[in-house]
Amino acid sequence: MTASAPESGSRGLFVTFEGGDGVGKTTQATLLQEWLTTAGRTVVRTREPGGTEVGVLVRDIVLHHRGEIAPRAEALLYAADRAHHIETFVRPALERGDVVIQDRYLDSSVAYQGAGRVLGSDEVRDLSLWATGGLLPDVTVLLDLDPSVARERLDADDKPFDRLESEKTAFHERVRAEFLALAAAEPDRFLVLDASRPAAELAEAVRERVTAALHPAA
Ligand code: TYD
Repeated sequence: MTASAPESGSRGLFVTFEGGDGVGKTTQATLLQEWLTTAGRTVVRTREPGGTEVGVLVRDIVLHHRGEIAPRAEALLYAADRAHHIETFVRPALERGDVVIQDRYLDSSVAYQGAGRVLGSDEVRDLSLWATGGLLPDVTVLLDLDPSVARERLDADDKPFDRLESEKTAFHERVRAEFLALAAAEPDRFLVLDASRPAAELAEAVRERVTAALHPAA
């Protein structure tokens, strides 16, 4: 079934894409952005870490610093990026009525720092909620994929691995399990998709969900 095109409205919508490294978030975010733009919506595309000038500096530290970063410091760096990004960029866009499509948000911190670094999911979630004044997405698309398959995709890209991508398989398995647990706990917010499916099918499922969020039943 083909989802009908959304209409322009005055209410903003916050859509996030989540999942492990190499699952295809950027591809799906781009397809959604193109579809909504063609349909006449004003779309703002952004990401964490690195959605602002300050965020670009933070991104460089968390992804490329050579040497140790204490896990709590890492969690605080992602939270600092997020606090600045949400206040200065995302909230103003939502207040204008734009659709914000974002690669990664607080669920990434809960999965990577809370479960991957074993800092504790509740603490890390609370940190991000404090940082953002409690802003949750309207829709979160979780692209789920076995980390070993995702790793093969990253290998094929031929780019050097960053600090997080270089972590062991067990780390990425904890991250995956936490994302799935988060989705199970908030089924109204999450759309979980098997990321091994063809990109066009995934895009169609995302469109249907976003259309429903733009036009909630009265
Ligand atoms: P991403 O931009 O998806 O990487 P790439 O540009 O290589 O596709 O994310 C960067 C890394 O940061 C990724 O490994 C996940 C990690 N990350 C966290 O650990 N915590 C967070 O809160 C966020 C937003 C990302």
